[in-house]
Amino acid sequence: MLTPLTVPSNILDSEFDALMMQRCLQLARLALGRTSPNPLVGAVVVKDGEIVGEGFHPRAGDPHGEVFALRAAGERARGATIYVSLEPCNHYGRTPPCSLSLINAGVAKVVVGMVDPNPLVAGAGIARLRAAGIEVIVGVEEEACQKLNEGFVYRVLHKKPLGILKYAMTLDGKIASNSGHSTWITNNQARSEVHQLRAACDAVIVGGNTVRRDNPHLTTHQQQGHNPLRVVMSASLNLPENAHLWDTGVAPTLVLTREGSSPNFQQMLLQKGVEVLEFPLLTPDLVMAHLYDRGFCSVLWECGGTLAARAIAENAVQKVLAFIAPKIIGGLDAPTPVGDLGLSSMTESLVLERVNWRTVGCDCLVEGYLPQKTVNQQLKTTSST
Ligand SMILES: NC(=O)c1ccc[n+]([C@@H]2O[C@H](COP(=O)([O-])OP(=O)(O)OC[C@H]3O[C@@H](n4cnc5c(N)ncnc54)[C@H](OP(=O)(O)O)[C@@H]3O)[C@@H](O)[C@H]2O)c1
Ligand SMILES: [Zn+2]
Repeated sequence: MLTPLTVPSNILDSEFDALMMQRCLQLARLALGRTSPNPLVGAVVVKDGEIVGEGFHPRAGDPHGEVFALRAAGERARGATIYVSLEPCNHYGRTPPCSLSLINAGVAKVVVGMVDPNPLVAGAGIARLRAAGIEVIVGVEEEACQKLNEGFVYRVLHKKPLGILKYAMTLDGKIASNSGHSTWITNNQARSEVHQLRAACDAVIVGGNTVRRDNPHLTTHQQQGHNPLRVVMSASLNLPENAHLWDTGVAPTLVLTREGSSPNFQQMLLQKGVEVLEFPLLTPDLVMAHLYDRGFCSVLWECGGTLAARAIAENAVQKVLAFIAPKIIGGLDAPTPVGDLGLSSMTESLVLERVNWRTVGCDCLVEGYLPQKTVNQQLKTTSST
């Protein structure tokens, strides 16, 4: 659990609301990477300016954040205000609707971070609370709430997981040297950010070449952190017999390959506890569809440029995180983050939106979102001309 929050005296009501919602987000983050296909949700019950109950949704199938917060508050919930980072649900799923639990607990006011993104249910929880005479405020710290659950929101709206392409490159745009050597491009601090990023994702994908060249672990390297499912896409299965990824005692691994590819190697993987699945066509698009069916919200692409280009072309990447180290390695054949996209003129380039950048130690992290419609239209137009 988190350390208790001390609330400064004499703060404005709006500042108090923001502070409570930030606390909800902190609580929600305690379950990072563990709630899919559900969202991360935190809740705080406040009575007479004091926190009397806190809770978060620990994982799918468990009660929702509001329920834990109400339980902790007990009788003090009557007449209280509850802050919750996502609109309370209004349907019977694996647990009864939270809107009903809030009404039964007798809360006087509900402060909601963001509306449920599912167009079929959006607003229904809020409407039910209002119909029961409860005051409801919506949209406190909304941007932060949306960001925390961007994978969940994307999954609900697009029926596939959010794809995040992450890479580390030198200042001259290389993700490895001429010889394929790539450890390490970035500093310790950047690498520990990558570990946190993995902890927040449901799966991390690499291509066969990255396994052959780098022998990566793809774990969070944290004692208690959640490890994502490690996914290898390899049509050839021409992979080493010993690799860190086959050590499934540390984290689970899934190898995706083509139908009929190297049955002996598949057998060897199965004996090591690695899950193997054959696809008639091994494409990023179909892989994302499969990961959606597994209930995943966020998928991290940590592959080299060959697979990254395919993933972008097939709309399996929505967000890009580029770590840039102030180093120059040179090398005409040194690999770059994104292979061929079939674009030839700079005016066709994919221009990222909502771009942010910050320094991480001595490296720089650039974050942005691919313009989804444009990716499809642009790449289609280019390939048909
Ligand atoms: N700095 C970084 O952030 C970073 C990250 C990752 C990798 N790297 C570097 O990148 C280099 C490897 O780059 P890469 O581009 O060759 O590797 P890659 O993109 O990770 O892997 C390409 C491989 O993916 C497999 N694959 C399966 N389905 C595919 C599909 N539909 N389209 C394309 N590939 C598919 C194939 O494996 P099979 O041949 O086994 O069938 C293919 O050879 C290494 O030197 C590594 O060190 C750097
Ligand atoms: Zn609920």
